[in-house]
Amino acid sequence: MLKGTCDFKVSASGRVNLIGEHIDYCGGKVLPAALSLKNYVHVRANGTDRVNLRWTDLPDEVTLDVTRLDGYKNVKHANYIAGSLYEWQKAGHPVVGADMLFDCHVPFGSGLSSSAAIEVSAIAAMCAVTMEPLDKPQIALAAQRAEITYAGVNCGIMDQYASACGLAGHAMLLDCATVTCRQIPLHFGDYSLVIANCNKPHNLAESKYNERRAETEAALSALQKAVDIKNLAELGVERFESVGKKLLSGKVLDRATHVVYECDRVEKAVAAMECGDVLLFGKLLNASHESLKNLYEVTGKELDTLQEAALSSPDCIGSRMTGGGFGGCVVSLVKTESKEEFASLLTEEYTKKIGYAPTVYDTEVSDGITVTKL
Ligand code: GLA
Repeated sequence: MLKGTCDFKVSASGRVNLIGEHIDYCGGKVLPAALSLKNYVHVRANGTDRVNLRWTDLPDEVTLDVTRLDGYKNVKHANYIAGSLYEWQKAGHPVVGADMLFDCHVPFGSGLSSSAAIEVSAIAAMCAVTMEPLDKPQIALAAQRAEITYAGVNCGIMDQYASACGLAGHAMLLDCATVTCRQIPLHFGDYSLVIANCNKPHNLAESKYNERRAETEAALSALQKAVDIKNLAELGVERFESVGKKLLSGKVLDRATHVVYECDRVEKAVAAMECGDVLLFGKLLNASHESLKNLYEVTGKELDTLQEAALSSPDCIGSRMTGGGFGGCVVSLVKTESKEEFASLLTEEYTKKIGYAPTVYDTEVSDGITVTKL
């Protein structure tokens, strides 16, 4: 176990998604940003074939044998880490014995991707001790495979990519079909992002998430009979309106309508940010929330109440749920000078209606993976 000074302090971020929700697994473009809420790993090589895990907030100590990393699926807390290292090893990278101390500052269950931050930082910590250059997109892809296999969430690439590749002061326009991104400077003029957690108790988010993904796959199969597309995001509003709509019905039509128009909103949001039209950006956030509420059905009473409370403030020009939904956070664009009044109003309104308070986070957009030699 860790004695004395650690060799490296490695971090990876939680993320907020600004717009482009539930479209990463449909091959669309999304606009996430990495947060200063991070998971830290203090790590050093120990010259054995064992990875010793400890946590700052848990009494557990777990030892992983690097020759059988696939054997820890049911070990609480350690499973995501073992899974990430296993995926990294399977991709042909060295995994050696090390002592790792995990210190997570991404709130669990907040929808800000604490699991991605843990997975990504575990692999980055291994790269630090094996002196491998950091290939951040490859780290993100291995971490995503771990999330799918170990957490059972058939997720897209957005969270792990944002956690690894984020850049302070920028959002990433991430093309999930090619897994490439363009870093876009955040320009919100007099406005800032405020992130608040509705604190809804644990729910069935994972199974509902997988169900939504299956519905978009059903939409894609139906559309492919008439249109030459590889993924749903490729369809575009025009083809959807002229051909696509007629081929779908019921919930599958609703889900596809969300995906097609959300992709369009991402393009519009990036253009709005690049030309400084912050009001339009805010309107697109609201439209995204409406679509996630009515067509994709991933919000729920708590998130809707929090978003409505945000919009009841004259200082807020746009607000939406962020992440997978069914609980978690709302991101709002708020006049910077009024952030404190906004937080009070949000807390008061939400508590009045739901019976418990939200949590407003003090966080900013930051770099993804960082490695410091100690
Ligand atoms: C979760 C998943 C992501 C993405 C979002 C919704 O955070 O992990 O891959 O699908 O939901 O946009």
